[in-house]
Amino acid sequence: MGADPYASSAPYIDPLIAGFWYGIAPALVDELRTLRADIGPVVDIGAGSGRGVRVIHDALPDAPVLAVEPSVPMRAALLARLADDPLLGDRVTVTASDALDCPLPDRMRAAVCMNMLGHLAPDERRSFWRRLARRLAPGERSSSTTRPRRPRARCGSPRGRPSVSGRRSTGAGRRPNPRASGASCGA
Ligand SMILES: C[S@@+](CC[C@H](N)C(=O)[O-])C[C@H]1O[C@@H](n2cnc3c(N)ncnc32)[C@H](O)[C@@H]1O
Repeated sequence: MGADPYASSAPYIDPLIAGFWYGIAPALVDELRTLRADIGPVVDIGAGSGRGVRVIHDALPDAPVLAVEPSVPMRAALLARLADDPLLGDRVTVTASDALDCPLPDRMRAAVCMNMLGHLAPDERRSFWRRLARRLAPGERSSSTTRPRRPRARCGSPRGRPSVSGRRSTGAGRRPNPRASGASCGA
């Protein structure tokens, strides 16, 4: 991975992405609760500030979670979220690595990669999906967001417009990887 695309935006991502998570969390909880696999962790790739690991833990409180997050400032937000909740912190292991080379367990219950795929170029996505497929139990799944062909609902969430330190902040929604054809949605 080259320069961190979140080096300057990291402080704002968590509040900007909150609206997305309020919208999608119930569907993700429902999805995770249908899992039959009970071996291995749920892996959250590009976990960001940890809103996803919070939802995974709410859905499956006994499941270990592996959070993969390459960005130092995003990881700082993630670790702060875990430190605030000892039950969550006990369940989640954080790894400072990348979707393409992170150490993955032999077996995973599920993989979650919300608002992350847009950082991978098409050939990188293919090798990423192959890595996941080898490790997911037969019939189990990964959950991700992608840009719909016609952007009708933008993955069901409005752009965030939270107030940060008394100033309005607005998500720009730019395409993070210039080689990526279908960017992920999110802040
Ligand atoms: C828009 S944020 C979304 C964070 C979180 N998934 C969420 O939805 O709240 C995208 C995240 O993907 C991470 N990321 C970017 N490139 C990545 C890569 N190659 N492998 C893993 N994570 C990556 C970024 O550091 C950032 O935390």
